[in-house]
Amino acid sequence: MARGKTALSPDLPFPPTLPQAGNRSKRDCIANTIRNAISTGLLSAQGRLPSSRTLADRWHVSRGTVEAAFDRLCSEGYITRTPGSGTRVSAAVPDSFLPSLTADLHKPNDRLAADVLDRGMLLTSAEAPVQAGIPFIARLAAPDLLRASHWHKHAAEAAKDSGTIDADFMPTRGLYPLRQQVAAYLGVFRGLLCRPEDIFITSGIRHAIDAVARVLLEPSSKVAIEDPGYPGASQIFELAGADMVDIAVDEYGMKVADLEKHPDISLVYTTPAHQSPLGVTMSVDRRESLLKWSHQNQGWIIEDDYDGEFSFQSAPLPALKSQDQHQRVIYCSSFNKTVAANLRVGFMVVPPALQNRMLALSEMIGSPVSGTTQLALAAFMASGDFSSHLRRCRQAYQQRRDVLIRELERHASGKYNVTGGHAGFHFILWLKPGTDEQDIVNQAATVGIALQSLGSLCRRASFGPAFIMGYSALSLSQARFSGRKLGLILGASS
Ligand SMILES: Cc1ncc(COP(=O)(O)O)c(C=O)c1O
Repeated sequence: MARGKTALSPDLPFPPTLPQAGNRSKRDCIANTIRNAISTGLLSAQGRLPSSRTLADRWHVSRGTVEAAFDRLCSEGYITRTPGSGTRVSAAVPDSFLPSLTADLHKPNDRLAADVLDRGMLLTSAEAPVQAGIPFIARLAAPDLLRASHWHKHAAEAAKDSGTIDADFMPTRGLYPLRQQVAAYLGVFRGLLCRPEDIFITSGIRHAIDAVARVLLEPSSKVAIEDPGYPGASQIFELAGADMVDIAVDEYGMKVADLEKHPDISLVYTTPAHQSPLGVTMSVDRRESLLKWSHQNQGWIIEDDYDGEFSFQSAPLPALKSQDQHQRVIYCSSFNKTVAANLRVGFMVVPPALQNRMLALSEMIGSPVSGTTQLALAAFMASGDFSSHLRRCRQAYQQRRDVLIRELERHASGKYNVTGGHAGFHFILWLKPGTDEQDIVNQAATVGIALQSLGSLCRRASFGPAFIMGYSALSLSQARFSGRKLGLILGASS
């Protein structure tokens, strides 16, 4: 990074959440982006920042907002401001915020949970949040597809029945009727045969990952994660004090052979059905190798099946867990993805060897989901309303994807490539090498489109310009309208 009077800004990323933020949070978005750029080394110590006027012009915010963000960073010690010499990155950055990329430099006792949580806040707020109705960060369950009348009918019945739930009927691993429905559903939809006894109800996938981390990990345990990958998982492992091992991903999924380079890995976290974020499906060979690795090394695997339900072209491959002869896979999934993002119910299938410890943990923490919600969900599944809801979603998501791709093709043919679009809530849009990614982000923001760069989910991996395109929670007309807008921007790009 150049020093002296040269502005540092060309590689300062556009704050991803800025277009949707209110005035106060605009300041926070800007502060987070700059803080993140400093702590990841994008802006180097004592380097000069662009002026508040330049950033205000570039990001279409008031100069006062940028000044407020600068003031905040100044008070936190990240930057210093001297009249006549401008704004510079401090010589010594507060190290409590250094991100996980530099975790190797930390001594184990530096990694207090509080530090990890502070850093987690930073990373989370620097990331574009998924949001319904906002192109193209709308990669979540579509709120418009859940038939309120169906859900309300079951919820009302459950509310009546919930008086019958007493302490004995309310096991902390989840109500039996729901676990029974989940077991039946997994057999039919994911080829996974398990018993209700193997299932633990959680508040979602992250809750399941956290429970597994508590049960299995010790400080400095080695956890293999996909790179690029889902930051929500790596943050939880870090919170448990684990050391992350980044494993690259190619068109066949996680490069399982690379696990052999790290003989002390105790846990692998993977998204085999539709890799998050690249969208590739783990090949059958890699699945076999991964299961073999876990058996030979007595390692554990977390299978995050976050959107495995929504496969458009053909039936999805059965879950990895369905081939798990040696019971080394903890399978996690979530109704937050299939029913509604705010439902906050998920589940995990726990191998017998871990069940006692998991049960002890559940007893300590208590049930994460109300009995009424569990009963409502069990009835929703038993009635067949859940499977018809899944069918409706699968069809609607496919239509939304197709409309978006058609618009891009119409206006920007030859300027991009799409991969990972055969399933789920998103695909990857690859721009031609050399395209100015930040310029496209900025132009899109002016027409209300938020683009999340693939690079924001990479740790060591590096790719050409690309975006994660979430479409599931857009209406057809939003997908068409914004697809056209983005197509026109891409079409005019050089
Ligand atoms: C790959 C992946 N796993 C898990 C989750 C979180 O699921 P939950 O809300 O059920 O914790 C997300 C959220 O976007 C995700 O992308």
